[in-house]
Amino acid sequence: MTSVYSINANTQSPERYNRGMILLHWATAALVLTLFLSAEAWDFAERGGAVRADLKLVHYAAGIILTAVFICRIIWRIVSAKSIPAAEKGLMGAVAKCAHYGLYLGLIVQIALGFSWRWSQGRAVDFFNFFSIPPLLPVSSEYRHLLGDLHSAIAWIIIVVSTLHAVAALFHHFVIKDGTLLKMMPAHAKAAQSTSR
Ligand code: HEM
Ligand code: HEM
Repeated sequence: MTSVYSINANTQSPERYNRGMILLHWATAALVLTLFLSAEAWDFAERGGAVRADLKLVHYAAGIILTAVFICRIIWRIVSAKSIPAAEKGLMGAVAKCAHYGLYLGLIVQIALGFSWRWSQGRAVDFFNFFSIPPLLPVSSEYRHLLGDLHSAIAWIIIVVSTLHAVAALFHHFVIKDGTLLKMMPAHAKAAQSTSR
């Protein structure tokens, strides 16, 4: 049976990310998709209607959860740095690294812009009816349009970069067949694949 922390004989580093990183990675991906789709969907809903308001509530709640997941992810990444699989070498490895750091940076900026945009309107960020995060910093309403434009532009950048990142992972898996995707899958996914060969 393959151990969760099995070591790659060539690189002497773990074959896959640890369980916490895997869980936080897929939670981030699901939340980013929810945030993007909720925001795109409310454009089609009637202005001032219940559907539009509900989609915004979903967006704010998913934004708060993403913030918590993201903080945990960064802490977990730093604490478990030694159990991270070795990065790919060469030009493709450098491109992948840029995309990963770019995504981390994009998410931090997007989270900051999301809260600031709402706070610039003098409004709290609600987690449904459970709790609200009131303006923690004074953000002038003068910046309202700028913050909105930046939030909307960065949303598209994150979606484009993460789609290219996902396509690269699938290309590695199905065309190059180097097991890159399995680094981000739980241990049993690899065991299932090796028994089906
Ligand atoms: C990767 C994560 C996120 C993506 C992809 C995303 C995407 C979007 C998009 C596309 C819009 C619509 C922009 C427009 O109408 O021009 C929007 C609006 C908004 N987002 Fe996000 N967002 C994200 C994270 C967040 C976070 C973390 C918060 C803060 C809790 C947040 C708060 C807001 C607010 C306040 C609005 C304006 C809603 C309104 O019109 O009242 N977003 N977001
Ligand atoms: C919004 C969606 C996504 C975001 C923000 C995202 C972000 C990231 C980041 C930041 C890393 C680097 C982890 C680290 O070393 O700290 C990573 C790794 C990885 N991601 Fe994603 N990801 C997303 C979606 C996906 C999807 C849909 C797939 C697969 C179809 C995928 C497959 C992978 C794989 C295989 C790795 C490991 C790559 C390696 O170490 O060589 N990701 N992701």
